[in-house]
Amino acid sequence: MNDRYDAGYGDQDDQYELVGYDEYGRPVYRPAAQQQAPLVGIDPTAAQLAVARLRGGRPLYARAGAEAMPLRGDSFDAVVSCLVFEHLDPFEPAVAETARVLAPGGRFVLFLNHPLLQAPGSGWVIDHILDEQYWRVGPYLPDDVAMEEVAPGVDLPFMHRALHRYVNELAAHDLLIEHVDEPPPAAGLLASVPEYKDAATIPRLLLLVTRKMRS
Ligand SMILES: C[S@@+](CC[C@H](N)C(=O)[O-])C[C@H]1O[C@@H](n2cnc3c(N)ncnc32)[C@H](O)[C@@H]1O
Repeated sequence: MNDRYDAGYGDQDDQYELVGYDEYGRPVYRPAAQQQAPLVGIDPTAAQLAVARLRGGRPLYARAGAEAMPLRGDSFDAVVSCLVFEHLDPFEPAVAETARVLAPGGRFVLFLNHPLLQAPGSGWVIDHILDEQYWRVGPYLPDDVAMEEVAPGVDLPFMHRALHRYVNELAAHDLLIEHVDEPPPAAGLLASVPEYKDAATIPRLLLLVTRKMRS
């Protein structure tokens, strides 16, 4: 269950089936056929939606941004956003929109590149002179934007923001953080980049599970 970052907050195991592994070695699950709750996936790019349809099967898909979802208010039990908010500038409208579509008591599961430990300029340092190795944290407080090459020739802007920016915006929309997870790097990632092994104790991801407290 942890591989799927479920952390005890999802449905039962038999409601998902493993369909394969993504390019980072992360397991990809899809809802098993017998699970009937309506599911909607959104992304503004047609190419991403095409891959989602292949991998995800049953959910409905809509071409839309997280800041303007073509969905009724107060209508979803859960919203999941994985490694998207770092690409939004500003990100605040997407938090407001997420709070709008969630039913009272519904959960928002937010996966981020760990804002503290993955700040720009962070990384594993091997100092041969002082004979020490450590994880360096780059400038953390200032906002930063960098172009991230997610595939050859495909660049996405990547925004760094300090963690309080996300936490305070969630709080401003009555999204109460009720669980936090910092999963270890995926085994596939560690296997594919040998020097990462030494930094296996440093999480790449931060998972915030929040609950909408009011309508
Ligand atoms: C780094 S990918 C993450 C994809 C996938 N969730 C994963 O974890 O592998 C970022 C995704 O955010 C999508 N995206 C970009 N702008 C968006 C927006 N305004 N609203 C929703 N998604 C957006 C991109 O099209 C892309 O699919």
